[in-house]
Amino acid sequence: MKFFLDTADLAEIEEAASWGVLAGVTTNPTLYARTGGKLADFHNHIKRICEIVDGPVSAESVAMTREEIIRDGRELAALAPNVVVKVPTMIEGLAATKQLASEGIPVNMTLCFTVPQAIMAARAGARYISPFVGRFDDIAEDGLAQLADVIAALGNYDFSDAGVAGESVEVIAASVRSPHHVAQAALMGADIATVPFATLKKCVQHPLTDRGLDSFMKDWEKVQNA
Ligand code: G3P
Repeated sequence: MKFFLDTADLAEIEEAASWGVLAGVTTNPTLYARTGGKLADFHNHIKRICEIVDGPVSAESVAMTREEIIRDGRELAALAPNVVVKVPTMIEGLAATKQLASEGIPVNMTLCFTVPQAIMAARAGARYISPFVGRFDDIAEDGLAQLADVIAALGNYDFSDAGVAGESVEVIAASVRSPHHVAQAALMGADIATVPFATLKKCVQHPLTDRGLDSFMKDWEKVQNA
């Protein structure tokens, strides 16, 4: 499973990239708003992320009609070769995805919650599909079970005739909120987990690692003073 960072924060992206595990970034309008960025700076901000990250960077269209989403998608894709256009899973989004994919522009279909949505996204030619986990948990449903269903259903079929030629669809576990979500997504075989910075940091931490390190340091001090 690859790790993407779910953020638009440049400092977080630079830091995670230095760890050697970052394979891509996903942004959304909320995450960009959190940076305090202005509309006029949005395209430059995406370009900057694309320079830092050696991998796909999802930039979301906020349009609601297929024509506008396609226009947005073309503009976003022109910013950098590693831009992936993020498109909501809805009828207009499916139609736009079909067109963008036919032009060789990779699409990440987002706000995907169900198996039928995921299959339709794959059929329309999505390069990535982002089933949301945490938002199911927020409404007292089992987000991980929903993710497992999506992965199992997509695995039943071959979507190589849909989408950008030569590229197969990958599942991005999104709305990931904890190392438990990350671990379960990996066990299910999710291709990618897109993870907030704080959660990614937690993924490398363990109290037994800290305790072990502490005792090694103390023992090494004894060796130095012997
Ligand atoms: O990038 C979309 C998704 O990961 C959002 O997560 O925590 O806002 O549900 P969350």
